[in-house]
Amino acid sequence: MYSFEDRDEASISLRPEATASVCRAYIEHGMAQLPQPVKMYYMGPMFRRERPQKGRYRQFYQIGAEVLGGSDAPAIDAEVIEMVMTFFDRLGLTGVELDINSIGHNAPECRPLYVQKLKAELEKVKDELGADSQRRIETNPLRVLDSKLEHEQAIIATLPRIADHLCVDCAAHYAAVKRQLELRGVFFKENWRLVRGLDYYMRTTFEITAKGLGSQNAVCGGGRYDGLVELLGGPPTKGIGFAIGEDRLILSLQEIGKGAAPLGRDVYIAWMGERACAAAVRAAKNLRSAGFSVELPPTELKFGKALERADKLGSRYALILGDNEVSEGSWTLKTLADGTQQKLTEPELLEYLRKQKPVSS
Ligand code: HAM
Repeated sequence: MYSFEDRDEASISLRPEATASVCRAYIEHGMAQLPQPVKMYYMGPMFRRERPQKGRYRQFYQIGAEVLGGSDAPAIDAEVIEMVMTFFDRLGLTGVELDINSIGHNAPECRPLYVQKLKAELEKVKDELGADSQRRIETNPLRVLDSKLEHEQAIIATLPRIADHLCVDCAAHYAAVKRQLELRGVFFKENWRLVRGLDYYMRTTFEITAKGLGSQNAVCGGGRYDGLVELLGGPPTKGIGFAIGEDRLILSLQEIGKGAAPLGRDVYIAWMGERACAAAVRAAKNLRSAGFSVELPPTELKFGKALERADKLGSRYALILGDNEVSEGSWTLKTLADGTQQKLTEPELLEYLRKQKPVSS
């Protein structure tokens, strides 16, 4: 986390993520009194003191969602995951892979027992591990499973797996989450090494990766964190959520050619003359409220110049409005792709364009 003093010696901390903040808001605003669960989302900058590389920044943006309160029904876990997978699908993101796991809970017969076994096994192979993993055997043995070091992979593959050590309730919860995902047609891969870097998780954890991101390929991470609200001074509360890395999402979309904002306009209004100006302003307003993207030059341009600009902007149509057109009540619509023109009255124009698909949709 970034923490520092400003010039008035006030202590400033920059948030590394927003799940804890959402939990604090839940407590502070008495949201436990609302119908449960409470579903929230956020978007905004986060700050982490990491070594920057492609897709990993010190200031980055997250889009997150959290479900707080109510039950810990596995259907909630599955619905949260289904929602983010649907979002990625609608964006046309490709090569999307969902990894899931359960890391149990903090009762002695569940995760702590597993961690003890894991630690004992790690001690046996300690000398074969790198310095980071050796340190983690003491500080947080689960994080050894995160290791990307080539020579540690074969060793890690032989370690005990948490799925085989979950308590009865956590095992049942995990099995039900998987069933619920199958019910929803959400494809997943079980990844027993997915322990996630934040301490508040229990039971369900998940991560979604996408194409074109190199080693920093997680576009979304999340999981269940029952108990976090209580830890922060609130009532015992169930919780699950995720955060999408917006920068990585955009990088991945760009990689598959979907990143650029759609170029072009539906209609470029080429107008000349005072009366045409009033008609052009009215037409722009009507077309925009009908859902078309419109470019209306703020000052008068010669038709030749205006059509040149319409073309450069990638407009689909040019609406040509001179004082003559206005007095005749017959407007000229030019299709820029083939140069064809047609005369239309004002109501006909809207009717005609409505039948066409807006470029901006
Ligand atoms: P996280 O896995 O630490 O989870 O971050 C979520 C996502 O934020 C990552 O998958 C990644 O796309 C993006 N991200 C993380 N660090 C960076 C960085 N330095 N530069 C660019 N992108 C980054 C959380 O933050 C949890 N709060 C998610 C959550 C919500 N769990 C439950 N509710």
